[in-house]
Amino acid sequence: MKVAVVYQSRTGNTARAAELIGASAQELGHEVGVWPTDKANLEFLTDADIVFLGTWTDGIIVAGRLLDMPGIWGKPTAGFVTHAVHAGKVVEKVGDVVTLLGGDWIGGRAFRRDKLPQGIAGFVIAALDEAEARIPNS
Ligand SMILES: Cc1cc2nc3c(=O)[nH]c(=O)nc-3n(C[C@H](O)[C@H](O)[C@H](O)COP(=O)(O)O)c2cc1C
Repeated sequence: MKVAVVYQSRTGNTARAAELIGASAQELGHEVGVWPTDKANLEFLTDADIVFLGTWTDGIIVAGRLLDMPGIWGKPTAGFVTHAVHAGKVVEKVGDVVTLLGGDWIGGRAFRRDKLPQGIAGFVIAALDEAEARIPNS
């Protein structure tokens, strides 16, 4: 599958999570691209079979920043966020943004910044499985 990983990161934790997700998918034999939201490769994104969309947690409005993300055009999309201690409802908020962008939300996960890469590999496998199940005629 073609796997696009797109993220926003202020101090590098979400960028690291994005790179770990990308590396995990690549190890599984998939074609992967990883970019910040404002540098996403639109051609790759258009052809992608799954999108991972990530951001970081702030206590107030969590995912509004993601609105500079290009449209996701019905693609299976998994969310990931990094946080310090308590992620609150940030993953659900990312899901709202994905739906707004036209993506097919397959769920997401919060990663504690000091525990990375814990949980990344399992998250990637589950998301790829779910995406594959949703691709027509796959
Ligand atoms: C303004 C601000 C608010 C934050 N609020 C929370 C919070 O409510 N809960 C939490 O667990 N982490 C919070 N954090 C921590 C960041 O979400 C965390 O460090 C994250 O990994 C940063 O990602 P980045 O390095 O990709 O920018 C906050 C950080 C900032 C700067």
